[in-house]
Amino acid sequence: MAASLIRLQFHDCFVRGCDASVLLDNTTTTVSEKGAVPNRRFTKTFRVIEDAKSTLERICPGVVSCADIIAVAARDASASVEGPSWDVELGRRDSDAAFASLAASDIPTPKDDLNTLIALFRKKGLNSREMVALSGAHTLGTAQCLAFRDVIDPDFARKKRRMCPASGGDRLVQPLDPVTPTSFDNNYFKALMIRKGLLVTDQVLFSGGETDGVVDEYSKDEGKFKNEFAAAMVKMGSIEVMTGSDGQIRRTCSKAN
Ligand code: HEM
Repeated sequence: MAASLIRLQFHDCFVRGCDASVLLDNTTTTVSEKGAVPNRRFTKTFRVIEDAKSTLERICPGVVSCADIIAVAARDASASVEGPSWDVELGRRDSDAAFASLAASDIPTPKDDLNTLIALFRKKGLNSREMVALSGAHTLGTAQCLAFRDVIDPDFARKKRRMCPASGGDRLVQPLDPVTPTSFDNNYFKALMIRKGLLVTDQVLFSGGETDGVVDEYSKDEGKFKNEFAAAMVKMGSIEVMTGSDGQIRRTCSKAN
């Protein structure tokens, strides 16, 4: 659960800012982001956020937004698996609409090349160094076969293909960090240095392009990775945030008020 809670902040903040739009269900006027390809593995994660929201509404109704719950949950998830912790600035307001087409266009796909990745992060105010730090979240969790049938390194690809049959098995998973997929460390970057990046977008970070040096630095200095990851999560958590009287504090995360 730690992995997908951290990932949820990314998928919330990259789509029209950190406004919990990712949590809204379909209505007659809004198409939910939940059906977008990148959001299809979050069913249990959505429930965790909704449970936290209903507990908070009982104690202190109308005060804590769903977007703030996502941000705090991501921080606590990181701290719970030996990752860094950070201060979460609060006061985000929730949207009253979802943006399904932006979920498809603004969240990177696992086959994007380096220039596309850099451009998608730059569009959100994050530089390439911050992009590499944030990709280090792949020190946790897994990816389904359908996301990595095009592994870059040919030897590694042959091994992975045996675990992912050519047809079927789309939902089988492999760890993104081959050594320690349940703890937050810099083994993900060490894996990239020996060309064992699972997704195309993992290995492109160390493939002769401008981000090679950052991967090298993080692979040698776990403390630096963790500090820069924390700072980048804070920055990501402030993308296009609504405050004051903009937006709303939803009573239920899956429905606008
Ligand atoms: C750089 C662009 C990125 C791409 C293309 C990407 C893509 C993916 C894909 C395809 C998966 C597997 C999904 C599946 O199997 O259905 C995944 C998993 C994951 N991603 Fe990313 N991701 C990126 C960046 C990030 C960032 C910035 C974060 C958080 C800060 C993040 C956190 C995670 C985590 C923790 C998982 C594992 C989820 C789990 O096990 O439930 N990713 N990512």
